[in-house]
Amino acid sequence: MGENLSFTFAVLLFTMLITSEAHHTRVTVKNEIRGENITAHCYSSEDDLGVRLLPSGKDFTWRFRVNFVHSTKFYCDFKTKHGSGNYGVYTRKVHARCNKNCVWLIRETGLCLVQTNHSGHLWCQDWKIRPKSAVSTRREYQTNAKMSLV
Ligand SMILES: *[C@@H]1O[C@H](CO)[C@@H](O)[C@H](O)[C@H]1NC(C)=O
Ligand SMILES: *[C@@H]1O[C@H](CO)[C@@H](O)[C@H](O)[C@H]1NC(C)=O
Repeated sequence: MGENLSFTFAVLLFTMLITSEAHHTRVTVKNEIRGENITAHCYSSEDDLGVRLLPSGKDFTWRFRVNFVHSTKFYCDFKTKHGSGNYGVYTRKVHARCNKNCVWLIRETGLCLVQTNHSGHLWCQDWKIRPKSAVSTRREYQTNAKMSLV
């Protein structure tokens, strides 16, 4: 009888462990830019993961529990030679695309989310801020276009 009870208790404990594990959400940020170190500063309203240097090809993952009202959000400030910007890496909108395992690939053009809830199709965003050289090239181009109109 006592043995049965402790068996039941063990099963219960195991189930609780599995369930709590299942409630964790993971976000991974991977640097896919060749030969370049980038920095990522990720944070939520409760946690600040600090500024991290991500060598080419490396990633980092963090795990967290989404709060009861599901308002947990994580943002990252990315800095690369190709562009930079602040992006919501875990929001309700992102959650709908990747559920509890959200992987972001940092590329020369911007960043892409692996949409695990949509057969892994990538959802990409351009860099919000382009490096100065690219901006001035565009401005020069516009100036030239204007001049040729005159
Ligand atoms: C990246 O950072 C490491 C130090 O963490 C350094 O040894 C390496 O030269 C850097 N690579 C580039 C391409 O800047
Ligand atoms: C995403 O996929 C998981 C696993 O298939 C599913 O449990 C979840 O409800 C899906 N979420 C959304 C928002 O579609």
